[in-house]
Amino acid sequence: MENKIKNTGTATVNIGDKSYDLPIYSGSLGAPAIDVRALHKASGHFTFDPGYTSTCSTESQITFIDGNKGQLLYRGYGIEELAEKSTFLEVAYLLIHGELPNKAQNISFTNTITNHTMLHDQVESFFHGFRRDAHPMAMMTGTVGALSGFYHDDAHTTENEARDMAIHRLIAKIPTIAARAYKYSIGQPTVYPRNDLSYAENFLNMCFSVPAEPYHISPTIARAMDKIFILHADHEQNASTSTVRLAGSSGANPYACIAAGIACLWGPSHGGANEACLNMLQEIGTVDRIPEFIARAKDKSDPFRLMGFGHRVYKNFDPRSRVMQKVAHEVLDELDLKNPILDVAKELEKIALEDEYFVEKKLYPNVDFYSGIVLSALGFPTSMFTVLFALARTVGWISQWNEMLEDPSQRIGRPRQLYTGATERSYIPMDKR
Ligand code: SDX
Repeated sequence: MENKIKNTGTATVNIGDKSYDLPIYSGSLGAPAIDVRALHKASGHFTFDPGYTSTCSTESQITFIDGNKGQLLYRGYGIEELAEKSTFLEVAYLLIHGELPNKAQNISFTNTITNHTMLHDQVESFFHGFRRDAHPMAMMTGTVGALSGFYHDDAHTTENEARDMAIHRLIAKIPTIAARAYKYSIGQPTVYPRNDLSYAENFLNMCFSVPAEPYHISPTIARAMDKIFILHADHEQNASTSTVRLAGSSGANPYACIAAGIACLWGPSHGGANEACLNMLQEIGTVDRIPEFIARAKDKSDPFRLMGFGHRVYKNFDPRSRVMQKVAHEVLDELDLKNPILDVAKELEKIALEDEYFVEKKLYPNVDFYSGIVLSALGFPTSMFTVLFALARTVGWISQWNEMLEDPSQRIGRPRQLYTGATERSYIPMDKR
């Protein structure tokens, strides 16, 4: 990766009777940034930004989000257009390499991924160490991390070939692990990957086919699955991507880094929101109970939040939510399903978007608001929703990890702190306490 930031000005920080000039850098899109790397050495001061609300942790050329415009670009291409016209593996190639693949590149990349979908047979024993009722995200975190014990040659991330192998193995095996976790949790036998199926078809087959009878894969459902993967593929420096980058900055094994990302995504404020959102919609149950929950979401004394609403970056609509709403209709129509929860979700969205609390705080439905409805209609239990998010986001995580390793300015991530603990004091013997 070639650094492309441009110096476009100077910020002056006045501390006491001293002034410090800091360069302002701009990228190709988005807000400029003040480079504070020299601040502590020059002034003895840190910057303070818990939650990183005003901090760029890196330069990146992969994904751009304009929260005010509700815009999401993967390597410059709009998410709406990619969801409509591209495929998940084509998007994976784009995120990793920076350009859409030509026909030969697409065939070669697809064949490479297809031919790495199987797991080492000893991985099977990891699943049998879990209780059947273990959350599938626990199985994902443990099993993906365990892959670092199988692929020692991929650990040498300084060699491009080893890095490419790790990238391909992770994209290829994550659906097999996700499907295996699901089958294990419902007590059904493993369904092995098939090389004659597309990425989405293969995943649906590994999840829903059984040895006892043929399984028909609906092209509409497979296309919907592929679109859902595209929508979740990457999203700039979100919490789980930042976790992967921080773990990778120490040179940790790529499988261990992705396991760290899976662990972070699991949280209900992040990737776990799709599961929490459907549970919330089911708790609301009917349209007439919506005002009660809107009131709770606005009540500061009540920890309840509208799951699937709000976003650190999007202060306008989340473009993924709109595509996901369309996918919800496509899937429910294809399956001829009437889901009253979809009616509750649409009415909740309408009421919330007209409520001054949500308008004032710029809270809009995010990617998780409709995804639970779609995934539930596809036949997945709520415990699998974040697993599917992790499956798709593995492409983004590994693309960002790869970019970090190629960034000439990359260093180990090591934030500092504003310490407010005890000042130095002497040890007190036990009989004096
Ligand atoms: C994802 O970062 C990413 O890109 C993430 C993601 C990705 O693709 O990687 O987009 C995926 O994580 C989507 C978000 C899924 N999470 C949820 O749906 C959980 C519900 N949403 C919230 O918890 C919250 O909106 C966050 C966590 C998403 C954002 O939190 P912020 O940016 O720290 O915002 P905040 O908590 O400071 O909220 C600002 C205000 C607060 O009120 P005040 O303190 O200003 O009075 O808005 C309120 C909050 O109380 N608020 C909500 C709310 N979300 C924020 N009030 C009610 N319901 C909500 N959902």
